[in-house]
Parts: sequence; C-alpha cells; structure tokens
Amino acid sequence: MEVRPARPGDAEAIRAIRNHAIEHSTALWTQTPQSPAEGAAWLAAHLERGSAFVAEVEGEVAGFAVYGPWRKLDGYQHTVDDSVYVREDRHGLGIGSALLTALIASARETGHHVMIADIEAENSSSIRLHERFGFHHVGTVPEVGSKFGRWLDLTIMRLPLT
Ligand SMILES: CC(C)(COP(=O)(O)OP(=O)(O)OC[C@H]1O[C@@H](n2cnc3c(N)ncnc32)[C@H](O)[C@@H]1OP(=O)(O)O)[C@@H](O)C(=O)NCCC(=O)NCCS
Repeated sequence: MEVRPARPGDAEAIRAIRNHAIEHSTALWTQTPQSPAEGAAWLAAHLERGSAFVAEVEGEVAGFAVYGPWRKLDGYQHTVDDSVYVREDRHGLGIGSALLTALIASARETGHHVMIADIEAENSSSIRLHERFGFHHVGTVPEVGSKFGRWLDLTIMRLPLT
C-alpha cells in the first residue's frame, strides 16, 4: 500500500467511494450523490491546498483522506476538520490509519493548530480510529442531522496539532 498526495486523475475513484458512502451509510449526511463535475471541483479545491491524499493498493485507489477549514470565518483559520474513507472491501487493513497518519503530518507541517473530526455518533470504527490517534471526545450533539428517516447525533473529536 502507498499513501500519496491526490492527483486530478483520482477524482472518479474518490467520487465512487464518496457516493457509495452517501448511498449506503450515515457517514455523509446527504442523500445526493456527486456528479462527475461536482466531484472534480470538490477535489480541485483540496488539490490547491495540498490537503488530499489517497491510498493505492495494487494500482487502485482504495481510500482517500482530506482536511479542510472546519468553519468558513477567518477566526477559524487555524482549525481544520478531517475526512477518511476506505473502500468497503478494504476495511480493517490499516488503510484508514495510514491515511490519517499522512493527514495529521500534513496539517502539522502547514501550521494548523487543531484538527476536528465530526463523526456520526454510532460510527464506532471511525471513533475508534480517531481515538487511536489521540483525538479526544469533546461532546455529542443530539439529533442535529437526519437520514434514512431517523435523527443523527454528531460526535465531535479534537486533536491538538501544536
Ligand atoms: C473508519 C474507516 C476510515 C477506518 O478505516 P480502516 O482502514 O478500516 O481502519 P484501520 O484498518 O486503519 O483500523 C483503524 C481502527 O478502526 C477500527 N475499525 C476498522 N474497521 C472496523 C470495523 N469494521 N468495525 C469496528 N472497528 C473497525 C479498528 O478498531 C481499528 O483500530 P484497532 O486496530 O485498534 O482495532 C473505515 O471503516 C471507513 O472508510 N468507514 C466508512 C466511511 C467512514 O465512516 N468514514 C469516517 C467518517 S467520520
């Protein structure tokens, strides 16, 4: 497995992983899949910042991770949030950990102060992954989302970077 910075040519593989999560899980709180143009534009914003990474296994993208501004106002500029997604047939093989390692190192190098993970409260694999990297549970906000006809609670985890 190789973790490397994402390239424009990864857009479709990343979009497929994102759209699978949109259709089948509560990891992403929307039911609207990304079009190819939306996927390319979404990735382009990350490529400009150097904040997107992919894990390649046997020449195929098996997962991706990005970080970006947690909130838009400039007062939040030292805080980023992260997203890590691994293709379903590759879960539990250490790919998410490898991606998160690269993400945290990059956010540190670019001088960010805090990384936040906003996680659906029942997503135990993501919570466990983030705990292993030293993220602490800040709190859980009940019923701030909805999908598949039920309320979703948001767990917020925090990692100091500096
Ligand atoms: C969360 C996710 C990124 C973890 O990636 P991964 O490559 O499977 O994780 P790793 O193999 O590196 O394992 C890291 C930790 O995750 C946990 N984990 C991985 N798969 C798991 C599973 N199916 N069930 C429970 N925990 C799991 C493990 O506990 C592991 O820690 P441990 O080795 O101390 O037990 C992956 O499950 C995923 O893509 N899920 C769907 C998308 C998602 O929810 N993304 C996060 C949005 S906040």
